[in-house]
Amino acid sequence: MENIIELRNLSTEFKVGKNIIRIVKNVSLDVKKGQILSIVGESGSGKSVTVNSMVNLLPKNGKIASGTSMFKSESLKDIDILAQKPYGKTMRKIRGNEIGMIFQDPMQSLNPVYTVGYQIMENIREHRDISKSEARSIGIEMIKKLGIPEAESRFDNYPHQFSGGMKQRAMIAIAMVNNPDLLIADEPTTALDVTIQAQIMDLMKDMRDKEGKSVILITHNMGLVAEVADQVAVMYMGRIVEYGEVADIFTNPSHPYTKALLKSVPIPGMDKNKKLATIPGETPDPASYVKGCEFASRCQYAKEECKNRDIPLYRIEGNHVARCILHEGSKEIVDEN
Ligand SMILES: Nc1ncnc2c1ncn2[C@@H]1O[C@H](COP(=O)(O)OP(=O)(O)OP(=O)(O)O)[C@@H](O)[C@H]1O
Ligand SMILES: [Mg+2]
Repeated sequence: MENIIELRNLSTEFKVGKNIIRIVKNVSLDVKKGQILSIVGESGSGKSVTVNSMVNLLPKNGKIASGTSMFKSESLKDIDILAQKPYGKTMRKIRGNEIGMIFQDPMQSLNPVYTVGYQIMENIREHRDISKSEARSIGIEMIKKLGIPEAESRFDNYPHQFSGGMKQRAMIAIAMVNNPDLLIADEPTTALDVTIQAQIMDLMKDMRDKEGKSVILITHNMGLVAEVADQVAVMYMGRIVEYGEVADIFTNPSHPYTKALLKSVPIPGMDKNKKLATIPGETPDPASYVKGCEFASRCQYAKEECKNRDIPLYRIEGNHVARCILHEGSKEIVDEN
């Protein structure tokens, strides 16, 4: 299967006061054409920083310390996004058109000064040579598809006139309106009720199934992952600790963190008074340096050795890999370079 993006050895750092904190650590990932990749992991594990780095959009105090992010565009030659100027011509051509981004933070993509409709139309007209009125009807059609009622009059509202859920849908409209080859959706439906959420997930599934487009979906909702994802990457403290096809992850979770994560998922119909298993121990401070496996202090299987050396990825089967010493000896080590 062909890839739309190949991310290799990405490391991202932030400067905080006098300290440099490494938040993403040597992450490599393939996003396949016509597939949905889901990235999961606790809050603070580096999911958003990973995808923002992938498209070369970091805040001022952020820096890509290493890595390449090869985008296999249909219209351009393969390009390494990380070698481009973040706001240069090439990235302006790609972002918003071939790659659509739904940011976790609405303020990152909605400008309070312009109407929602204007912002959707701007994105259309920046990439396509069409009239304002054509752009307007495409934009209105898009927000209708996203379930915004009274789409025509709502189109001319300012972001502050929108509820949280509607703002989220406005961002989705901007990201999806040019029919991108890759949609990066960072917690796209958290503020939405389940019906609208299902409607939007259907749009993403259609993108994949009818048009062969790719999606990266970041979510805390493991039920949603099970339902829509093809591949799953599990992150912990800035590293990929497990990756595989969705069925492998759910039926044969091979990193203790993934196992714990799946145990803490509510199962539909479960007695609400029954407590979910929580992962014991505290979420580590990303600024702290931990030698060896970062999950060791919370892991029931940890051995002394886990804390003393870096743990490689082991190949469980096919493209299913896990970063855990439990597989040492029985599974081959994956070369990550
Ligand atoms: N601009 C920044 N400066 C300093 N630290 C940052 C910055 N942006 C993010 N971080 C830190 O990087 C770590 C990873 O953040 P990130 O937003 O990627 O987590 P996440 O996995 O997306 O979490 P969530 O599920 O809550 O969205 C966090 O500890 C966060 O505080
Ligand atoms: Mg995030």
